[in-house]
Amino acid sequence: MERTFVMIKPDGVRRKLIGEIIGRIENRNFSIVGMKMLTPSRQLVEEHYAAHRGKDFFEPTVEFVTSGPVIAMIVEAENAITLMRTMMGATNPLEAAPGTIRSDLTVSMRENLIHGSDSPEAAATEIKLWFPELFADK
Ligand code: TYD
Ligand code: MG
Repeated sequence: MERTFVMIKPDGVRRKLIGEIIGRIENRNFSIVGMKMLTPSRQLVEEHYAAHRGKDFFEPTVEFVTSGPVIAMIVEAENAITLMRTMMGATNPLEAAPGTIRSDLTVSMRENLIHGSDSPEAAATEIKLWFPELFADK
């Protein structure tokens, strides 16, 4: 079993697509093993997208992801990381395959509804970043 970090971005919440997106994840028989709604701080989102710091889309992307509540999830399945990325579809809507979340539900390169970790290292880092309470010493 593998775990990945998935986020429904503010456009998904605003457009009332939480149920649609979670439905696709559950219909695939992935298990949601952690979930919360929050409006993330700038500090959290800058750290989340640290690999993109300095790129032209960094600042507008941080602005967008901090613009309202998001749904943060830990999703578990065999090969969850790769399968979730496939279900999401490519970042560029011109390349997103039909049947994917991004292809079916949006045309935007930025307001693209969903984030999923792109590697085991990213999944581990992002789960710790978004769910620190799961790692706190009690
Ligand atoms: P990236 O990690 O490349 O894409 P993905 O979300 O598919 O892993 O980029 C992070 C986010 O930054 C992306 O979801 C949307 C935004 N972004 C832009 O707004 N413009 C761009 O040209 C790129 C590459 C990303
Ligand atoms: Mg990425």
